[in-house]
Amino acid sequence: MEKLIISGGSPLKGTVHIGGSKNSCLPILAATLLTREKCVIRNVPDLADVRTMCDLLKWLSARVKHDRANGVIEVQAESPLGVAPYELVRKMRASVCLLGPLLARLRNCKVSLPGGCVIGNRPIDQHVKGLSRLGAEMTIENGYVHARCNELVGTDVFMGGRFGSTVTGTANILMAAVLAKGTTVIDCAACEPEIADLAHFLIKMGAKITGAGGPTIEVEGVAELHGADHAVIPDRIEAGTFMVAAAITGGDVEIKGACAAHLSAVRDKLEEAGVNVTRTNGTIRVSGGASHRALEITTMPYPGFPTDMQAQMCTLMSITPGISVVTEKIYPNRFMHLSEMARLGADVALESNTAIIKGVNYLSGAPVMASDLRASAALVLAGLVADGETEVNRIYHVDRGYEKLDQKLRHLGAHIERADE
Ligand code: EPU
Repeated sequence: MEKLIISGGSPLKGTVHIGGSKNSCLPILAATLLTREKCVIRNVPDLADVRTMCDLLKWLSARVKHDRANGVIEVQAESPLGVAPYELVRKMRASVCLLGPLLARLRNCKVSLPGGCVIGNRPIDQHVKGLSRLGAEMTIENGYVHARCNELVGTDVFMGGRFGSTVTGTANILMAAVLAKGTTVIDCAACEPEIADLAHFLIKMGAKITGAGGPTIEVEGVAELHGADHAVIPDRIEAGTFMVAAAITGGDVEIKGACAAHLSAVRDKLEEAGVNVTRTNGTIRVSGGASHRALEITTMPYPGFPTDMQAQMCTLMSITPGISVVTEKIYPNRFMHLSEMARLGADVALESNTAIIKGVNYLSGAPVMASDLRASAALVLAGLVADGETEVNRIYHVDRGYEKLDQKLRHLGAHIERADE
């Protein structure tokens, strides 16, 4: 296992290029199973989760050519198998996105349930409900979700759960509905840009979809889909993480290749905190304000403040004067980073799903343990400003979702090295 060793204190300066979106390309790769023809996916980030999805597609007997250097994946699934095994699915929860396309293509499939997750309970009841509405018989047997049907028939499907709309649930229903008979209306659909991107890819494959990116998506099923060529959207969470990195180090960073429209909520909160954010010709420039202000943040489904940026903002607030209040409404238990932050000297308390953070004057470096992807990013950000040396252990979590994070930070002037644990 590897760790990152960070010596804090250098303001980040320079330009960083944002890669393709992890959470866009995982369902898009799953969607290549909807056709026997070849699909080409571009702007794919080189991430552990992407490689796991490729392994799954290969296991399902698709031909996969992964050009990691250029971020291009070609997939051709002439006659896919219908079973996604635990050994691969357990590595990545997004494997659940195989359910919709495999069911639509084969009418019979089994996808292992992914198991426990450190960010909290992650049920798939909405996926099961939605696919049942389309006519599938859904059972859970021996740790697998088994979905089967004679045919899928379009209908209205409501995708809102206790914590809002489900993103991968919406993706699954969309991918099943494109090959269903008749019209499907998905209400309370997730509005995340990754859903709109998936729909763009499906439309290129011949699907008939309107409204994706909004709360009501209408799909008119077609008999078959064909191959398509698609470049995935930029990763808004990678971009947001670099925005916070610039702010927290009091640096001045140009973020290129991000989609500013996808980052309104993050920008709004950073500006409220006193950070300078400007936008010109496809570049977001972030420079740390002289002194930051405490914030109240509540995570919400898009276009609200993203849960995937909550941990990073907690780090920024930990050295911002005043008392910040951060409420997590998507994953009420997604606060594993707080106890590690306390090891670095942060003054944090948790009341139910709300973190109360009293800004301290400085953090001091220490060994810390990454628990999940975004928590790891938050600890790396803390290391960038902590006095002395911070060791972030178990960084395979970082590598699941950030492409070359350490290299990109080093390029901006951070003192960060990778070493064996
Ligand atoms: N939920 C249910 N029932 C379901 C599905 C979800 O109750 O059937 C609940 C969840 O427990 C959660 C809420 O609904 O409380 C939202 O979960 P959602 O299904 O939207 O999450 P997801 O689709 O599994 C995606 C991203 C996550 C991101 C969330 C929320 C991918 C591959 N993953 O997960 O990304 O946090 O949406 O925006 O798209 C990450 O990148 O670090 C990450 C965790």
